[in-house]
Amino acid sequence: MRVTMIGTGYVGLVSGACFADFGHDVVCVDKDAGKIERLKKGEIPIFEPGLDDLVTRNVREGRLAFAVEAGEAIRAADAVFIAVGTPSRRGDGHADLSYVHAAAEEIAGLMDGFTVVVTKSTVPVGTGDEIEAIIRKANPSADFAVVSNPEFLREGAAIEDFKRPDRIVVGTEDERAKAVMNELYRPLFLNETPIVFTGRRTSELIKYAANAFLALKITFINEIADLCEAVGADVQQVARGIGLDKRIGNKFLNAGPGYGGSCFPKDTLALVRTAQDAKTPMRLIETTVAINDARKKAMAGRVADALEGDLNGKVIGVLGLTFKPNTDDMRDAPSLDIIPALQAMGATIQAYDPEGHEARQMLRGVDFKDGPYEAVEGADAVVIITEWDQFRALDLDRMKLLMKAPNVIDLRNIYRPEDMRSRGFRYSSVGRG
Ligand code: UGA
Repeated sequence: MRVTMIGTGYVGLVSGACFADFGHDVVCVDKDAGKIERLKKGEIPIFEPGLDDLVTRNVREGRLAFAVEAGEAIRAADAVFIAVGTPSRRGDGHADLSYVHAAAEEIAGLMDGFTVVVTKSTVPVGTGDEIEAIIRKANPSADFAVVSNPEFLREGAAIEDFKRPDRIVVGTEDERAKAVMNELYRPLFLNETPIVFTGRRTSELIKYAANAFLALKITFINEIADLCEAVGADVQQVARGIGLDKRIGNKFLNAGPGYGGSCFPKDTLALVRTAQDAKTPMRLIETTVAINDARKKAMAGRVADALEGDLNGKVIGVLGLTFKPNTDDMRDAPSLDIIPALQAMGATIQAYDPEGHEARQMLRGVDFKDGPYEAVEGADAVVIITEWDQFRALDLDRMKLLMKAPNVIDLRNIYRPEDMRSRGFRYSSVGRG
């Protein structure tokens, strides 16, 4: 199959490279000429484990190419994927669809022969209808079908998620489009991945419902963690005790500083707006959003508590800045709320993250260090915000010697309280009362 991917962001690049690896001919298109130049040279703009090898191999073997001009690639394509950004619109939280609409306009003018137009971007219910109308208006004789095919990739594990998904969701009523989508995902039939064929609007909603449910699940365990602290229980044991019930499941029950990233915050907000517009408000998700926002801000208070409520003039070492490990993504990272709140309480921050380079532009007045031990040196307390593997195996004796006072606030529960205390740390974590 010939596939054109519009947008070489996270989703477009991973999906394009994986489709090429399945054996399809893929062209990834992006208006950003500098980015395309770098991709052609094999430079990957994002940090995603395994992606550079996958891209390099498929380019070398002639199945993956990059282009600024979409014309030729769209004319030749069996399927054109729209994988452009849908950020939160400033002011109202609705998804901003201007890039999606622009892509539809462009495709309309270029498509040739039957073409399946697929939305991979996360788009509100009804966007497929809008794309269809845009194309129909711009090119009344075009032969095409618009399909919704949401992605469920997690940053940091995206290639594995693409190649071994729990399910594929395809929203279309069009039989020719179904055949094209079946062919595209055929390599996954071998491991019997379920394909859910459904209506387009249903498919669009499945994506939001999945992310909102996961955000709700995390928020639920975070509230249970607070209760555990108050009553002297252990949230990890509670998570295990409920997670073994197959109806609940053990995933996404890690308590922490609140969810962040490029998806949950924006998608929960967009779902809330969609539901309000449809006059069926989703109060559960509205509350989830509010609890999570407040939680991220409240985390600085835990650091203050560990230092008898006074952060004035204190040096805080921060380990981890990205919204989760194995990504360089800083979008809506809890660190962006926690660090300014610590600074407002009078603390000085020295921080380290292996990949969160963008933090240098996003956080003011922070002393960025080149390694974890540099970040803890001279600190009155250390806060672990992101659970990078390298923070799980720190030389704790060395760390203790370097610190001014042995206070550790572990917002990801990566250490055991009894181990830390026996090594002489004053240690606090989340939900282990
Ligand atoms: C999420 C979904 O997991 C993907 O299925 C979806 O495709 C993607 O959004 C998207 O819509 O594009 P992602 O944002 O990459 O993926 O990361 P997650 O692993 O879901 O983590 C999101 C946030 O929740 C992180 O801040 C993480 O630290 C937090 N989290 C996750 C917890 O606090 N506890 C958990 O148990 C799990």
